[in-house]
This record gives sequence, structure tokens and C-alpha cells, in this order.
Amino acid sequence: MIEEINIITKEVDAFNSKSSEEIENFRIAYLGKKGRITQLFTHFKLVPSSEKKEFGRQLNILKSLTSEKIVKLKEELKEQLKSTKSKTDYTIPGQPFDVGSRHPISIIRDQIIEIFSNIGFNISEGPEIEDDWHNFTALNFPEEHPARDMQDTFFINKDIALRTHTSSVQVRVMENNQPPIRTISPGRVYRNEAISARAHCFFHQVEGLYIDKDVSFADMKQTLLYFTKAMFGSETKIRLRPSYFPFTEPSAEVDVSCTICKGKGCNVCKYSGWLEIMGCGMVDPNVLENCKIDPNKFGGYAFGMGIERIAQLKYEVNDLRLYSENDVRFLKQFTPES
Ligand code: DAH
Repeated sequence: MIEEINIITKEVDAFNSKSSEEIENFRIAYLGKKGRITQLFTHFKLVPSSEKKEFGRQLNILKSLTSEKIVKLKEELKEQLKSTKSKTDYTIPGQPFDVGSRHPISIIRDQIIEIFSNIGFNISEGPEIEDDWHNFTALNFPEEHPARDMQDTFFINKDIALRTHTSSVQVRVMENNQPPIRTISPGRVYRNEAISARAHCFFHQVEGLYIDKDVSFADMKQTLLYFTKAMFGSETKIRLRPSYFPFTEPSAEVDVSCTICKGKGCNVCKYSGWLEIMGCGMVDPNVLENCKIDPNKFGGYAFGMGIERIAQLKYEVNDLRLYSENDVRFLKQFTPES
């Protein structure tokens, strides 16, 4: 019996292969259910008891030797496969890769920026974490104004909040620059609202500000008409409805002729022919004073629009949540107009 162990040991030592099939056959032949080594274990009981100890010891050595050999051969095989795989075939044609697309909010923001840059507006930015002064007080919000309410504003503490509109940037621009001022301020804003198809806790706005000597309401109207035509097409009409904002007097809401039905009436414009797109007005003298600009010398207009709202009209997307869910099936549909 010991003789048999010696023979098998030699065979195992001599075995060498780089084929996974051969290695597997080797394993079955020696360690499989009916393998030669396995069988020696079943013969163990036939071994005279004086030899049992030595036989058992040698048989165990043989078994582990064989298992180790199999592991080693398999590893060598793996290494070999790896090194052949990494031999690059430079004749294979390149893999095409997907280019990303721009986010619809970025596309519309850039279009708005371009339209206003063409008539001399520059871009200004401000912080998203804002103090009460820039977001409310300097903009003439009365102490008890509902927009300061916990329901609309994410407060960080009594004085600091996430800005609720980009109008805060007008204050910063006016505090740091004397007229003439022509600026637009794109950015993200936050409102403490339940998320639904029509409302979100964050969205994007573009604020506009024009301050100089002798600026009239008519100047504002023409600028906004120029903007809407550039954005929605030369046939677009606007109308202004009286409104109220603490920081402008007089204030107005701007409607554009429905981009879908061109004013004939459809379910998007609720058969009115008009769609609301922004707020505007002549900057209140109190705001100018708060920002150290002399209201007796200078005046001007401001306007503010939601980028999602413009995108919604351009792309007919009716659920605000889509803009922040980052679903590639949605995002891939947008390409900038060239
Ligand atoms: N800040 C306003 C809002 O978030 C939008 C707005 C309205 C801005 C009128 C203006 C303006 O500058 O004149 O609803």
C-alpha cells in the first residue's frame, strides 16, 4: 500500500499542464469520488493496524500535495490567460463612446445669458446662503411680510437663510457699483415647499437689473419684448398686468402669447392665449436708498424669471421633478440649438 502512495506521489509530481480540461481530469482521476487517492482512503481499513499510523500520515501528505498542485496549476493558467489578454490588438477599430448632453436648465440659462449679453448686460452672482438684509430687508420687505414666513423660507438661523430669489444679487451689485448698471444674475433658489409636479424646494431664476439716469417703464417693456422674441420667436407678443412686489413700484407680471397655440387658446394656456413668464417693475426708491444709490439721480427697472418655467414652455415638460431626478432617458433628449 505504501508502495502505491509512492507511485502516485511520483505521478503527481510529474504532472504538468496548461489546459484547464486536463487539470480537471487530473483532479477527477486522483481526488474525485472514484479517484485513486480517494480510493486509498477507503482501503485504509484493510491496512494492518501496526502500519495504519504511517499509512495515514503519508496518505494525508499525498492528498494535500495533490490539492496544492491543482491550485498551483490553475493559478499559472489564470496568469497565462491574463498576459495573453493584455496583448493589445492595435488593428481593432476604436470603440465609439457616448457624449453626454447638456442639462435643459443649463441650455436655457445660457440662451438667456446670450440674449441679454447681446444688449450689454453683464453677469453677476451671489451666495445661495444669504442674510436677511440681502434677501428681504434691503428689498423693502416689511417686517411681517409672508415671504419671510417659515413656510416659504429655509432658515439656517434667525438672520441667515437659503435665498428665496436671485433678487438678493441686485442688492449686492448695487451696494458695490454705481450706475450705470446692467446686469443679469442667474442662480439657484430655495423655497420650503412640498415637492410636486408644479412645485419644488429648489429651482433656478434669472434676475435682471438696469439702473441709470432717465430709465423709463417703456425701456423695460421694449427690453422684455426683445427678450421674449429672441427666446420664443419673432411672432411672440407680450402683455403686462399690474402686480405687486415689495422691491418694485409700479410692478407688473409679464405674459407671453401662448407658445403652443400662438394665442388661439389651448389647454396649456387654459384657453386664455397667454402664459405668465416673469415679474418686473421699476426699482422702488427705498431699495436704491438701501443700496446707497441716490434715487433722485438714478432709477431703473428689474425683472425676474424662473428658468424651469421657460424650459417648460420651450420643451413642453410639465413635471418640475424631472429636472432634478437625473434620469438619463430624460436628459438625453436635449441638445442645444446651434
Ligand atoms: N423675486 C421675484 C420672485 O422670486 C421675481 C421678481 C419679480 C424679480 C419682480 C424682480 C421683479 O426683479 O422686478 O418671485
